[in-house]
Amino acid sequence: MCGIIGILGNRPVSDLLLDAMKRLEYRGYDSAGIATLEDGHLARRRAEGKLKNLEAKLAASPLHGHIGVGQTRWATHGAPTEINAHPHSTHLVAVGHNGIIENFRELKDALLAEGRVFVSQTDTEVVPHLVTKEMEQGATPIEAVARTLKKLTGAFALAFVFEGESDLLIGARKGSPLAVGHGEGEMYLGSDAQALAPFTNRITYLEEGDWVVLRRAGATIYNENDKPVKRQMIISSASSLLVDKGNYRHFMAKEIHEQPDVTGHTLARYLDLATLTTKTPQLPFDWAKLDRLVITACGTAYYAGLVAKYWFERYARLTVDMDVASEFRYREAPMKAGELALFISQSGETADTLASLKYCKSQGLHIAAVVNVTTSSIAREADVVFPTLAGPEIGVASTKAFTCQLSALASLAVMAGRARGTLSADDEKAMVQALSEVPRLLSEALRLEPQIEKLARRISKSSDVLYLGRGTSFPLALEGALKLKEISYIHAEGYAAGELKHGPIALIDEKMPVIVIAPFDHIFEKTVSNMQEVAARGGRIILVTDAKGHEAAAMEGIETIIMPEMPAAIAPIVYSIPIQLLAYHAAVLIGTDVDQPRNLAKSVTVE
Ligand code: M6R
Repeated sequence: MCGIIGILGNRPVSDLLLDAMKRLEYRGYDSAGIATLEDGHLARRRAEGKLKNLEAKLAASPLHGHIGVGQTRWATHGAPTEINAHPHSTHLVAVGHNGIIENFRELKDALLAEGRVFVSQTDTEVVPHLVTKEMEQGATPIEAVARTLKKLTGAFALAFVFEGESDLLIGARKGSPLAVGHGEGEMYLGSDAQALAPFTNRITYLEEGDWVVLRRAGATIYNENDKPVKRQMIISSASSLLVDKGNYRHFMAKEIHEQPDVTGHTLARYLDLATLTTKTPQLPFDWAKLDRLVITACGTAYYAGLVAKYWFERYARLTVDMDVASEFRYREAPMKAGELALFISQSGETADTLASLKYCKSQGLHIAAVVNVTTSSIAREADVVFPTLAGPEIGVASTKAFTCQLSALASLAVMAGRARGTLSADDEKAMVQALSEVPRLLSEALRLEPQIEKLARRISKSSDVLYLGRGTSFPLALEGALKLKEISYIHAEGYAAGELKHGPIALIDEKMPVIVIAPFDHIFEKTVSNMQEVAARGGRIILVTDAKGHEAAAMEGIETIIMPEMPAAIAPIVYSIPIQLLAYHAAVLIGTDVDQPRNLAKSVTVE
């Protein structure tokens, strides 16, 4: 992960770097730092923890200079301390890095043997040392970087600023994204276009292996063989607005409450509510000719894909292979050219998902992506993008992106079902009608917040929580458990309700809350049997169901969250609300950092 920024400006850059880093903090917030050239000399300020700590440091001890680099860190090698904070530097060069230098150990050993002194535990620190060594042997900064890049393996984006070089910034990309921004007499480097949006919308994305030399007059891009290359400049649509929390205490709360609106926008993109049909965009593949759909994603996006697997199988009779991207990318799964691979990602920058996409591309598959950030790497690599219109999601815990992913995926499953002849025109109408009710039902579900907040008090005192569900409620159980652990730090597990007796039932005692997600549907009775098994062992059940389910369960001594009635097909979208609110309120009661939980980052750009 980590976000990097570089500015070759014609004004003081310290505040500009900080502004850009605020937009990159979603990539990591373990530490932050900037290095500028003050009167020709490299100077640095770094701080452990959030960006505000660096801001305070800079207020007390400002950095001057018209050129500099900055980095927000998500720690991979070395603890999140100030000493490990970037930029890392020598007397000749300062470097901001995103990614992992995989061969750093052998490089470091060789440099140590030569008597070079390392102060951090990071992989990054080898980079300034290698550049310095080249420069001490007579190389220019540009030659030194070119030679150093050849020695590095792994995935990285790098930004370099040099002692005494007031019109030179160098960037390099291998595996991690890096954008070049073209300003008026100023040039920029950034991990994404969003970071550069306040300065310019004229963007060139570096390609794999590219490195770039920036002067105020412009950029020269080289490929991995050091040959000058032309890369297209695009006009980015990234917004320069920094989103605020409005009247909410946390971004997560705001984003949970935005869901009726943003799912409505997303659905409107795919559905024609006047005719109750799906819109049929031009596609580079034919749904009717597909034998298989491969879906790959990480975290919450993976759970959205898992729900979609049920939908595509049921409505489009399409076989779906589903895997987490970190496994898929190395599995060398057999693929047939012409099949469809679908990648789901809020950020569009998740390293494992991107690597899986590239594998499928190399195997000749059609590449489709459900993404929220349409300027992202995954969106740019895909043959066709199905956007989710969730707007910027700032809270690390994904909420509105998830329900928008589900909204888009449900629409695609209906679209595929129609194209494949497995859904009749009437079925399509019924499904589109059901989906059109999602925003209203989400609003109704949000009205249950006071009750859910009370239940969260009990959850917040537990050390372990179990989530159970069947069918499309199973991925929701997984998502509920993920949400709770990532923001409240309470251990939680999601299970398919039918799997309970194959092991996890041994965990049940009177201290264990068991959250059962079970709308009243064709498998409801099966879940009731599992609840009885839990109740018989003293487990404390919270049942999330509707009025019919409440009546049919007829169990005493359990808490019930009664959801509005709705068609079963859309339940996974609407039932997301109680699991999000439960996790949110438990975390608030515990007092964790809800929007930026420990050890996490919004966008996971390393594997
Ligand atoms: O940006 P992506 O959707 O690709 O991110 C995938 C996961 O990292 C993400 O969903 C993560 O699991 C969230 N923090 C969960 O709330």
